[in-house]
Amino acid sequence: MDLFDLRDLAGESPDVAIHWTRRFYSEVLRPSFDDDLLDDLADIEKGLLHPDVVSPELHVLVAAAGGECVAGGSLFEYYSWSNCGLSSYTVVLEPYRGEGLARRILDTRNQILDAARRRFGYHEEPCTLFAEIADAPGTRQQIQHKLGWRPLRFKYVQPPLSESKNPVEGLLLAVNGRQTLDRHTVQRFLIDYAASVDHTVLAWAERRLGIRLGDVRHAVGAPRQEACTLMQSILRENLPEYLTRQLLELDTLELVQCGTFST
Ligand SMILES: CC(C)(COP(=O)(O)OP(=O)(O)OC[C@H]1O[C@@H](n2cnc3c(N)ncnc32)[C@H](O)[C@@H]1OP(=O)(O)O)[C@@H](O)C(=O)NCCC(=O)NCCS
Repeated sequence: MDLFDLRDLAGESPDVAIHWTRRFYSEVLRPSFDDDLLDDLADIEKGLLHPDVVSPELHVLVAAAGGECVAGGSLFEYYSWSNCGLSSYTVVLEPYRGEGLARRILDTRNQILDAARRRFGYHEEPCTLFAEIADAPGTRQQIQHKLGWRPLRFKYVQPPLSESKNPVEGLLLAVNGRQTLDRHTVQRFLIDYAASVDHTVLAWAERRLGIRLGDVRHAVGAPRQEACTLMQSILRENLPEYLTRQLLELDTLELVQCGTFST
């Protein structure tokens, strides 16, 4: 089984990268997830083909049997201001399940994220990995638990993923391989994520925090204010309610605790 990151391919052979992106989308993602949970194909292609103007850093890792049949893969992003990853989808198609392929894909994803955080100058600090998981008990949550995900205990709201969409409730923000997390990390990630899709937040983040989305070098040496300065700025500005509410809730917590998925 070959694993390849379409982000690498996009630089050398954009046509080939687009071909595999479309196959991965139609053969793996579309049959596995509801439409409203799926990113638009056009956004994925844009993220891969224009890495210099789009933040976060998008990776599409594809597993192909014999270099031909798509067997599964993972789509994930690296957010360089907060030094966090967001794992969006990981799928292994049925004929290839139960043989450790998901583990291989996830190990490779971790290596790619590790390389990204070093490239952005985070030599000491490990990358924190998040995922949004439907707040719906069942097999999928049991598998997520086995793969090391734990839901964070605060009321998470997904930012609107495009101008025509609304913030989404009913999702849990889960973290991988942790029992607790400091609130600054979660706050920074929420800002980084929201700024990548919501122009109001982006304008604020650029002005106040020096985040330079659209410039892949922005994170190196960029100031990452801790909550005190951050909260003063948040309270002064007219930020979207979904974001302010979460940042304020997190600010009351010493540490953000992980819970368990309900059974
Ligand atoms: C979840 C999925 C990716 C697993 O793929 P896979 O290649 O069969 O997984 P692996 O063989 O590498 O097993 C990985 C781990 O998951 C566990 N696992 C896999 N399927 C499981 C199931 N149905 N129930 C419970 N645990 C399961 C394995 O026991 C293994 O744990 P271990 O390494 O601690 O022993 C695959 O079943 C799938 O694509 N499901 C549909 C999409 C989905 O639910 N994705 C979840 C993330 S979005």
